[in-house]
Amino acid sequence: VEKHLKDYKRPDFNVETVELHVDICETETHVTATLGVAKSPEAAEGAPFLLDGKELELLEIEVDGRTLSEVDYTLEGEVLTLPGMPEAFSLKTKVKIHPETNTSLEGLYFADGTFLTQCEAEGFRRITFFPDRPDVMSSYRCTVVADKAKYPVLLANGNLVEEGALADGRHFATWEDPHKKPSYLFAMVAGDLACRKDSFTTASGREVALRFYVDHQDADKCEHAIESLKKSMAWDEETFGLEYDLDIYMVVATHSFNAGAMENKGLNVFNSKYVLAKPETATDTDFQNIEGVIGHEYFHNWTGNRVTLCNWFQLSLKEGLTVFRDQEFSSDMGSRAVKRISDVRVLRAAQFPEDAGPMAHPIRPESYIEMNNFYTATVYNKGAEVIRMIHTFLGPDAFRKGMDLYFERHDGGAVACEEFVKAMEDASGVDLTRFRLWYSQAGTPKVTVDRAYDAETKHYTLTFTQAVPDTPGQSNKKPMQIPVKMGLIGADGMPIPLTLEGESAQGPLERVLSFSANMESFTFTGVEDEPIPSLFRGFSAPVTKVVDFTEEELIFLMGNDPDPFNRWDAAQQLFADTILGMVADVRDDKKLSLSEPLVAAVKKTLTHDTLDKALIAQALTLPSETELGDRMAHIDVDGIHAAREFVADTLAEKLKMSWRAVFEECADDGPYTLDSESIARRRLKSLCLTYLARVETPITTFEAFASATNMTDELAALTVLSDLDAEESEKAMGLFYEAWKADTLVLDKWFMTQATSKRPGTLERVKALAEHPDFDIKNPNKVRSLIGAFCQGNPWHFHRKDGKGYDLLADTVITLNAINPSIAARMASGFNRWKRYDEERQGLMKARLERIKNTENLASGVFEIVSKALI
Ligand code: ARG
Ligand code: ZN
Repeated sequence: VEKHLKDYKRPDFNVETVELHVDICETETHVTATLGVAKSPEAAEGAPFLLDGKELELLEIEVDGRTLSEVDYTLEGEVLTLPGMPEAFSLKTKVKIHPETNTSLEGLYFADGTFLTQCEAEGFRRITFFPDRPDVMSSYRCTVVADKAKYPVLLANGNLVEEGALADGRHFATWEDPHKKPSYLFAMVAGDLACRKDSFTTASGREVALRFYVDHQDADKCEHAIESLKKSMAWDEETFGLEYDLDIYMVVATHSFNAGAMENKGLNVFNSKYVLAKPETATDTDFQNIEGVIGHEYFHNWTGNRVTLCNWFQLSLKEGLTVFRDQEFSSDMGSRAVKRISDVRVLRAAQFPEDAGPMAHPIRPESYIEMNNFYTATVYNKGAEVIRMIHTFLGPDAFRKGMDLYFERHDGGAVACEEFVKAMEDASGVDLTRFRLWYSQAGTPKVTVDRAYDAETKHYTLTFTQAVPDTPGQSNKKPMQIPVKMGLIGADGMPIPLTLEGESAQGPLERVLSFSANMESFTFTGVEDEPIPSLFRGFSAPVTKVVDFTEEELIFLMGNDPDPFNRWDAAQQLFADTILGMVADVRDDKKLSLSEPLVAAVKKTLTHDTLDKALIAQALTLPSETELGDRMAHIDVDGIHAAREFVADTLAEKLKMSWRAVFEECADDGPYTLDSESIARRRLKSLCLTYLARVETPITTFEAFASATNMTDELAALTVLSDLDAEESEKAMGLFYEAWKADTLVLDKWFMTQATSKRPGTLERVKALAEHPDFDIKNPNKVRSLIGAFCQGNPWHFHRKDGKGYDLLADTVITLNAINPSIAARMASGFNRWKRYDEERQGLMKARLERIKNTENLASGVFEIVSKALI
């Protein structure tokens, strides 16, 4: 069944208190829940109390101490209905559940020797009967009981209030959370875990105990995560005046997790890949991701937990805002420009295609069949861009005032996106009426810019036109309010003052234009010579921009734009134009050639001696085949591959000496450090290696692999080797496996590298690897590293003309449907772009989608994805 935002109503019954008793045994778990319930004053006469329950065996049910008989309630599907309830009462239920066989990784599950929970969005209903919706907020007290020898660590949200031994070698712990919370923030854990301890003193002088629970063998890999947490806590105090509100903050790492991490109150559960790291096993990117995700979950304590959601349509209220906060945090900890570029890469690679496909939805969706399908790049990443645009329009000070007002008004509440926008508006006095369309209209606006220079009047006019594309269920959209951060650059590379027509004083060198009509012109006066515009600086709006820049102009921007993001963007545009311009020639079997000015521009950037090396590396990374495909109306898989390979080979050949020189310049045998400069150096070195491998012998690359002293260098070399059809490739894979077979996170990299290889026979190797003893279809990280990486990150092999890549994906979805529906649905979205390919491939993909759709017992989440794709 599809749920609609327009049908939302506040609950009829509130649950004030929840007392849980969870008795864990090897083959079954008993959960006794005592709920203190009160009828809402707004409840309709005779409204029944509705509780959700999924895969629960109801053993007992009592109201105010009286056992109910079967005529007193109905239990149909996943809803328990209690009619005729008094104004206030106590409901006690006892259920039996089976975490030991729960492979969905939702609710209470058992994995790798530990019992743990994942309740967001609707997992709590797999633990006990409950009105499992975020606007029901309660005080929780939870007692966990388990075997003491096997599960010495027993955790739940809040503070430990009691613990002790029981008969038969069992023990218990009781936890109490002083903060009211919705059920999706509930968590508990029982396991045998190592505990790494630290502490943080808040700005107001309170001491908070920090506890990281990980597998014993991973106890030496928590340092970075702990430091990141302390930095996050200090950053939120400094930036937003927000302090932590409990005496203890716990993080539990698990290898078996559907998502990245979960912000359960005081007891975060993390995918181990976002906690565990040391230089020998984790790459620079891993370290950065850990800092970002630790920050993200910590920041949720205010944006998500203290102020939560009234319904799931509002998910972006907490996720968009919290992603914005974690992005800002990472920018402050490292290089802002580099962070911005990688965030925009993610947006373009994941969100733009989503916005252009069958699952396109506004950041505040209007309906859903399966909520799990809406933890999307749109809700998260585009949601963060929407917050960023508010920040851009208001400026940092007014934005901070808006945040303060938001917490002042809504702390302890369950609210909607509207409340956030209203607080921003009220605190700043800025009218956001039109801006609100970003919450309701899906699709990536396309902004076309026309330029006109009048040498007589010295007027320079930019005319913007926007088109918001139709998306499923939405057409004829209104124009959005778009912030255009911009500047004008003179031929000498100097910025030009931006004085708008009608202004008396000379304008600033950079400004934010507010563009909110279908078409709007902005005229600048006193412009002596025709300038080159630098538009959407820092990616000031999540739009695609269309400007008729020539190659020469793009090269100029690449070398002269004072905005580092736009320098990078100009380089990407230049590469994309070049490669896409060759695709037709590839089809016609024409001889390809690369322009001399482009080669010279690449050389100039590569050998630039003052530019940040990380920016150089980003600028000279060619757009991926997926991204290039996305820029084409009809994706030519083989043409893109051939053209991109040609450009890479030619740059490698023509600039061989420079790649080699920079590679050597970036080499360093000192100890591994995580400062931005060292990271940048390693990044540029890896990039050079990818080009060098195209012109040098495989032995040279193998040497880089063999001599690496940290995982960043080691994996970079392995990845390059994996594309070579040479014995060194196999040899390196073998050595890597032998070295790391005991470390499951490092093995994920081993699987992924092989899955994304360009070598012939990759599909066959991926299928063989799916039978490897270290592969486990029940483990989402493994599925993502092997099958996910192949289908999403290796378009040329995935889209093989014989359809065998599609078979692999369809088979995987069907297998996972019965094991882990949420991951199955994620994987199924790999077919979402099927209509963008040639007829032959379309037919092949459509057939696979239909095969999935006809699967027996298809999970609702998978159904939603494939049925929407087939429309
Ligand atoms: N709230 C979590 C986070 O962003 C993610 C939960 C994912 N849940 C899901 N059903 N996909 O930090
Ligand atoms: Zn989040």
